Amino acid sequence: MDIIHTVSALRAHLQAPENGGRAIGFVPTMGNLHEGHIDLVRIARDRVGMGGLVVMSIFVNRLQFGPKEDFDKYPRTFADDVEKCRQAGVDVIFAPDEHEMYPEPQGYVIEPPEIQHILDGAVRPGHFRGVATVVMKLFNMVQPSLAVFGKKDYQQCRLLDTMVRQFNMPIKIILAETIRADDGLALSSRNIYLSTAERKEAPQLFVALQAIKTYLLAGRRDFDSIEAEALNRLTMRGWQPDYLTIRCQSDLLEPIASDELQIMPLVILGACRLGTTRLIDNLEVLL
Ligand code: PAF
Repeated sequence: MDIIHTVSALRAHLQAPENGGRAIGFVPTMGNLHEGHIDLVRIARDRVGMGGLVVMSIFVNRLQFGPKEDFDKYPRTFADDVEKCRQAGVDVIFAPDEHEMYPEPQGYVIEPPEIQHILDGAVRPGHFRGVATVVMKLFNMVQPSLAVFGKKDYQQCRLLDTMVRQFNMPIKIILAETIRADDGLALSSRNIYLSTAERKEAPQLFVALQAIKTYLLAGRRDFDSIEAEALNRLTMRGWQPDYLTIRCQSDLLEPIASDELQIMPLVILGACRLGTTRLIDNLEVLL
C-alpha cells in the first residue's frame, strides 16, 4: 500500500507504467475509519477487481465546517486509519495536508442548487458548498472511474450524484447502504463523542425512523402528524431534533405532493442532537 501526500506524487504514481490504464475505485473520507468506510472499500474493490486500484483519500476539509462546528476537535487517527486500510486491501492512501489541498484561498467554488439550503444545509450553512468543492477537487486529483459514498449522508449523496451528472464527469457514483451497530445505530465517526448513557440512547433515532416507515407501510398518509409524533417522542426523551421529515427520493429531496403518492419512492431523514453530538440517519421507503 502506498501513502501519498502531494498531488504531483499522486499523479506520477497513478500514471506510472504499472498503473496507467487501471480502473480506479475511489473512497473519499475524512479519516477516523470505521466498518462503514471499510465496507465502501470492499465495494470499490468488488467493482474494479484485482486489476484495478482502490484509492482512499483522508482529508478533514475545513471548508465544509461552520465557524462554530467541530473542525478542530474532529477525530484525527491517521496511524489507525493506515492499519485499517492495509487490512482492507486499499492500494493508495491519498492524505494531503491543508496547504496541498488549498495552496491559495479557494476563490472558485462549486455552488450546488437549492438542495444545499435545506435540511442539513439549513442547519449548516455553506456545508454542502464545502463538500461539493472538495469532492470536485479530489475527483480532479484522483480521476477515478467510480467513487463510493455511504447513504448515511443521504443529502450529500444526492447532491454529488447530481453534480457528476450535470458536469458530465466520467465517474460512476455508487451509493452504499448504511452500516449499523447491532442495536441499529448508524456507524459514524462522530459516535465517539457520545457518553456511555448517550450511546445507549442513540439507537432511538433509528427507532423513530422505523416507526415512521411502519406507519407509512400501514397506509397512513398524514405526513405532518406522523413526523410530529416521532419528533415529540424524541424530544420527550431529551433529544433536540433539527428535523425529522419524509421526502421524495429525488435530486432535490422535495416534500411529497399529494398527487405523487402512489409512485414516489420516499426517504425519511432525521438529524437530532443528543447532548452536544449531532446524529443523522435516514431510511428509504417504497410505498
Ligand atoms: O462524507 C465525508 O466524509 C466528507 O463529506 C467527504 C465526502 C469526504 C468530503 O470531505
